[in-house]
Amino acid sequence: MKKDIEAANIPYLLHPKPALLITCGPFEKSNIISIAWSIPISRKPPLVAVAISPKRYSYNLIEKYRAFAINVPTNEQSNAVKVCGSISGKDKNKWETAKLTKERARKIDTAIIKECIAHLECVLEKKIELGDHDLFVGRVVEAYGEEEAYGLGILNTSKFKPILHLGKDSFTTTV
Ligand SMILES: Cc1cc2nc3c(=O)[nH]c(=O)nc-3n(C[C@H](O)[C@H](O)[C@H](O)COP(=O)(O)O)c2cc1C
Repeated sequence: MKKDIEAANIPYLLHPKPALLITCGPFEKSNIISIAWSIPISRKPPLVAVAISPKRYSYNLIEKYRAFAINVPTNEQSNAVKVCGSISGKDKNKWETAKLTKERARKIDTAIIKECIAHLECVLEKKIELGDHDLFVGRVVEAYGEEEAYGLGILNTSKFKPILHLGKDSFTTTV
C-alpha cells in the first residue's frame, strides 16, 4: 500500500542527499550555510547548482558577490553541519560557533573550510528564480580534494564517511 505524501515532505522522497557546506561572501566576512539540495549539471562546461531560499543571509551574499565554494564535510563535521544549518550568519560568526578553520579559496574571493575533504570553487553563472528556493548555477573554476579520499576519482567510503541528510533533523552515513 502506498500513501500520499504531503507537499512539505515531497523533497525528502529524493533524499538521502549529501549535506554540504557552502562558503560565500568576501574572505574577511565570509559566511557558511549547510545545504542538501545540490545538483551536478554539466561536465563541459563544468556546472553545478544549489537551491537556496531567499530567506537565507547566504542568498544575498552569493547574489551580491557572484561566487561561492562548495565544501564537502565528513561525518566528523556533523555538528558543524547542524550549527551552520540552524543559525544565520546575519547574527553570528559561524566560523567561531561551528569551530571551523578558514582558508583562502584559490581562485575566488571567499573562504574554504580546512576540515572538509573537497572544494568546488564556483563563479555564479546564473540565478533562476523558481519558488521558495531559487537555483544558483555555478561554473566550477577550481576543484580539489584529499588524495586519500579521491585518489580513484570517487569517494573512498572505507576511509571517509559522508554526511547523508534524510530530511528534517535526521542524518545517516555509509557503512
Ligand atoms: C542538513 C541541512 C540541509 C539544508 N539544506 C538547505 C538547502 O538545500 N537550501 C537552503 O536554502 N537551506 C538549507 N538548509 C537551511 C540553512 O542551512 C539554514 O537556514 C541556515 O541557518 C541559513 O544560514 P544563513 O542565514 O547564514 O545563510 C539546510 C539545513 C540543514 C541542517
